[in-house]
Amino acid sequence: MISTAAISPPNSELAVKKETMHVPVMVSEVLDGLSLRSGGIYVDATLGLGGHTEAILSRCPEVRMVIGLDYDTEAMEKAKSRLAPFSDRVRFIRSNFIHLHDVLLYNRIEQVDGILMDLGISSFHLENSGRGFSFFRDEPLDMRMDPSGALTAADIVNKFPVERLTDLIQTYGEERWAKRIAKRIYERRNIEMILSSTDLAEVIASSIPRKYHPRRIHPATRTFQALRIAVNRELENLKEALDSFPPCLRSGGRVCIISFHSMEDRLVKIAFREDERLKSLTKKPLVPSLEEIHGNPRARSAKLRIAQYIGGPTLRGQDYYNDCNPKGPKCDSA
Ligand SMILES: C[S@@+](CC[C@H](N)C(=O)[O-])C[C@H]1O[C@@H](n2cnc3c(N)ncnc32)[C@H](O)[C@@H]1O
Repeated sequence: MISTAAISPPNSELAVKKETMHVPVMVSEVLDGLSLRSGGIYVDATLGLGGHTEAILSRCPEVRMVIGLDYDTEAMEKAKSRLAPFSDRVRFIRSNFIHLHDVLLYNRIEQVDGILMDLGISSFHLENSGRGFSFFRDEPLDMRMDPSGALTAADIVNKFPVERLTDLIQTYGEERWAKRIAKRIYERRNIEMILSSTDLAEVIASSIPRKYHPRRIHPATRTFQALRIAVNRELENLKEALDSFPPCLRSGGRVCIISFHSMEDRLVKIAFREDERLKSLTKKPLVPSLEEIHGNPRARSAKLRIAQYIGGPTLRGQDYYNDCNPKGPKCDSA
């Protein structure tokens, strides 16, 4: 394993931090968890602004390549300019990570040494995307990370039956006031459609009695989280990835997953415990140090779990792939 300890973050990490305020979380723990090795090929399945990939490439010159996937075109363009100094060691693939298996076959890579997933949205989405992820910004209610996704948050808010809306807010937001919120949304949309993030935030806040407003978070936090998870099919995608990633790894290869809410972490925990192809290396999830949380409060709910691939079926050969997918995988090689 390559030592990554003593090298400080490169300047461009700080530059991106300034522009978008997205700071990659638990970088040292991820680099150790991947157990980087000379000549290794790694996948950053949630490239985002390239913070983790930059750390891998800059701190470990012996790593041969990182394959970075993201389905957000804008985030990927930012990652491309950030990672320009490493252009010969990074490949950018615009794709949903559920297609990783096909992406590797298409690129004639049989197995990789490690896979990283840093789930959820980045600070770029919240602060700069203009897509209504934040209740503090007056923006169109979109919330798609993949701009080609079929469903926007406005579609859900304005078209879903009230029972389905209640269920969604309750399940994905773990919101005790889900029924009241859904009812108030229904009443408001019968007067006029709810199309902006601040309009929705106001409807939500007005449906929870003021004395029950949470003290530490905005009253709309949980509902916004629920909508984002539903719009981007986050839990479905994670389940699919957990099932399809192991055979993309060489024997002994690592998978590191950073999650930010309990539903994601539960899925990862169960998969790592019950999948016979994997050996969990973290009985309890790793969490950021107090120092990291102090410097980057977004890190406070991060949980990192690591597992090792111990065997089972590997990727099938290129001929099989060509026979099955004459048109190639559902992704753009950017
Ligand atoms: C938390 S950010 C990653 C930040 C990155 N580690 C960094 O340091 O800049 C998560 C990224 O994953 C992407 N993403 C989320 N779900 C995805 C999926 N199913 N397929 C591909 N990309 C996805 C989002 O668009 C977002 O850019």
